[in-house]
Amino acid sequence: MARPKIALIGAGQIGGTLAHLAALKELGDVVLFDIADGIPQGKALDIAESGPVDGFDAALSGTTDYADIAGADVVIVTAGVPRKPGMSRDDLLGINLKVMKSVGEGIRDNAPNAFVICITNPLDAMVWALREFSGLPHNKVCGMAGVLDSARFRHFLSVEFNVSMKDVTAFVLGGHGDTMVPLTRYSTVAGVPLPDLVKMGWTTQEKLDAIVQRTRDGGAEIVGLLKTGSAYYAPAASAIEMAEAYLKDQKRVLPCAAYVDGAFGLEGMYVGVPTVIGANGIEKILNIELSKDEQAMFDNSVNAVKGLVEACKGIDPTLA
Ligand code: APR
Repeated sequence: MARPKIALIGAGQIGGTLAHLAALKELGDVVLFDIADGIPQGKALDIAESGPVDGFDAALSGTTDYADIAGADVVIVTAGVPRKPGMSRDDLLGINLKVMKSVGEGIRDNAPNAFVICITNPLDAMVWALREFSGLPHNKVCGMAGVLDSARFRHFLSVEFNVSMKDVTAFVLGGHGDTMVPLTRYSTVAGVPLPDLVKMGWTTQEKLDAIVQRTRDGGAEIVGLLKTGSAYYAPAASAIEMAEAYLKDQKRVLPCAAYVDGAFGLEGMYVGVPTVIGANGIEKILNIELSKDEQAMFDNSVNAVKGLVEACKGIDPTLA
């Protein structure tokens, strides 16, 4: 059987890391696409040359021609500009919306059967726009945010509790922005919910609140340190986990920006929710119950995403 084909639109920091991880995990052959001629070809060749050392079988190529992504099984989109210090994800809206138009059309015309994972920010609005421009089915287009936000939360918690991060599960819902909703009640150490761990004296409510805030600010913390761009190792690892769930029909339960129509009382919009990812893309949305406070935070986040989608419609009237 031929290897799956993975197309990466955007061969920058995240795109290059995605290509490396996909090759190391032998998820399939990789095509890197970018408008900056030479970058995708150079990164593809560099990673291919690491193959004999690491011992992976995967073909890598770079291109500036959308025809080369033809028949891709998975497309991961990072094309666009990242944040600089002082910028919010929302500041990227105008520039990256134009990028989503050309990328969406490129996918529509060359890889209409792919499972598409968007990473470009502001995430929830960009994945919505990408779906609109590409015209692909909603279950085949999603955004990577929840896995990353949950991973950041899990990392901070494992350090606080001094336990393996393998035993820490976490749930982060809502939009991928300052309004994201880390759900402490659904986050656990080996099944014990965080509020119970506070009662057991493993941590204090103040420390937990600080970790929740650090999770919300997780992207900005990295931007502030790097100064020249935004995070790329953890975002790439998170998207690869989603791609693997699709390619191997793993039915993983992962939070991601999915099209929600009915669940959570929402009518047709993209926002971060718990999903099941398998061979049919986003196969299910887990309509979990929220407490009054959690619902209020989620509503606030949903409204922030709606505001960005309206802004997109204002910039590009074909989306209205
Ligand atoms: N089509 C294809 N590629 C494009 C286009 C386009 N229209 N416009 C820009 N690019 C490419 C750039 O040439 C660059 O190589 O997208 C790449 C982006 O790479 P980086 O600038 O290194 O950004 P990265 O850190 O990879 O982040 C990409 O992901 O997390 C988000 O906020 C982040 O929106 C940003 C995206």
